[in-house]
Amino acid sequence: MEAFRYHVFVCDQSKAEGVPCCAGRGSGKVMEALRQEIAAQGLLDAVQITLCGSLGLCERGPNMVVYPEGVWYSAVQPEDVPEIVRSHFQQGRKVERLVNKDAAALKEEIQTNRNKALAAMKAREASGELPEELLQTIRGFQESRAILTGIELNIFAAIGNGATAGQVAAKIGTDARATEMLLNALVAMGMLAKSGGMFHSTRVTARYFGGKAPDDARAAMMHIVHLWERWSTLTECVRAGTSVKRQEAAEGGDDWTESFIAAMHRNARARAPQVVEAVGIQGARRMLDVGGGSGAYSIAFAQANEMLQVELLDLPEVLPIAQRHIEEAGLGHRIKTRAGDLRTDFLGKGFDVILISAICHMLGPEGNRNLLKRCYEALAPEGRVVISDFILEADKTGPKQAALFALNMLVGTHDGSSYSESEYGGWLREAGFRKVCRMRLPGPAHLMVGTR
Ligand SMILES: C[S@@+](CC[C@H](N)C(=O)[O-])C[C@H]1O[C@@H](n2cnc3c(N)ncnc32)[C@H](O)[C@@H]1O
Ligand code: FES
Repeated sequence: MEAFRYHVFVCDQSKAEGVPCCAGRGSGKVMEALRQEIAAQGLLDAVQITLCGSLGLCERGPNMVVYPEGVWYSAVQPEDVPEIVRSHFQQGRKVERLVNKDAAALKEEIQTNRNKALAAMKAREASGELPEELLQTIRGFQESRAILTGIELNIFAAIGNGATAGQVAAKIGTDARATEMLLNALVAMGMLAKSGGMFHSTRVTARYFGGKAPDDARAAMMHIVHLWERWSTLTECVRAGTSVKRQEAAEGGDDWTESFIAAMHRNARARAPQVVEAVGIQGARRMLDVGGGSGAYSIAFAQANEMLQVELLDLPEVLPIAQRHIEEAGLGHRIKTRAGDLRTDFLGKGFDVILISAICHMLGPEGNRNLLKRCYEALAPEGRVVISDFILEADKTGPKQAALFALNMLVGTHDGSSYSESEYGGWLREAGFRKVCRMRLPGPAHLMVGTR
């Protein structure tokens, strides 16, 4: 069976710093060039690319193998890619200058490298050294912190179309020597490029952190900068059993609120159409969006049903941000905002749908029981409450993002966490909902729906 004319395996193995490997020799750029060139030459249906582990020619990477012929290319550079795609994949003629032609020598080289790798692995095991992957995870904070500081200082925008470290430092008011150290580290991490003393953003960092619409994510990423401080208290929080430095939404000031809601908005805007489609809103007349944040979900539901009137409940300091988005969407006449406290307020009466998106994780079990009871009372007969949140597996060890998010709530809230399907199901039934179901969506956050 031939689903594709060619199947290309590109080695993307990375190894400890200083050990030769394809990732260290630029396989990422080759891969990117291959993807672009295959699309540009109209071969997406003819060529399948698969990333793979070491092919055993580590000193001569980046390496790739093309099937069905089994052609082994070595030392491939991004500039070789257009020729490979045109000559090999379009015309069926391999690019001879990059091909390993001597099969016996190739086999021997692979075997020798395999033996070396095995011997190194055994020596490492015997020496009691920490495994490299473990060390990399432990040191992961260094890379994360360097990027966050770059974002916090707005370095990517300051670089613009290219700048020296001195120019960047002058623009953002930082120390020139330290700025250069940071820029160099960002280059080492692939976040910037450097040539002749000039620093340039990459395509990705320019697009998301360069300060240009429509994809600029700096405001949303500032939320992660703020989370850093909370996560630094994790050890104390585990001892104390609760957040030791709580700053829930509005308690952190304008900067916190703006970046928090910007982060929520970015995620909600992308996900809202899926939620609307899964829930279905035709026939509904009144909806309540509890802790509606930026209004992204209210807007998506209102756009899907012209007869729908929505109330968005949130803290007073968040409402101007929601109102801004609602006005931009031209929905001010159908989406009303209400300042209130979702933990204690009477929610109203007669709603067909109540959405609780990314709220339950802020509350403890008692808070959720109480909220769901008030939702039950606020719904019309046959009305539905829709919870959208990370949902943990029964033993609470996955999905990884949901398990880590539980810690995010530990460091940031009084008694919030991530919860499992059976916890949500139990609270919904206890509140009186007669039909309870889970709806799976792509990604770690799913829906729990209760019908009154
Ligand atoms: C994680 S955000 C979710 C926003 C939105 N539902 C979404 O999914 O994008 C939590 C929202 O709850 C709001 N919130 C937090 N505590 C609240 C309270 N006590 N009463 C009302 N809203 C609250 C926050 O201001 C924020 O907009
Ligand atoms: S790391 Fe690519 S061939 Fe070994």
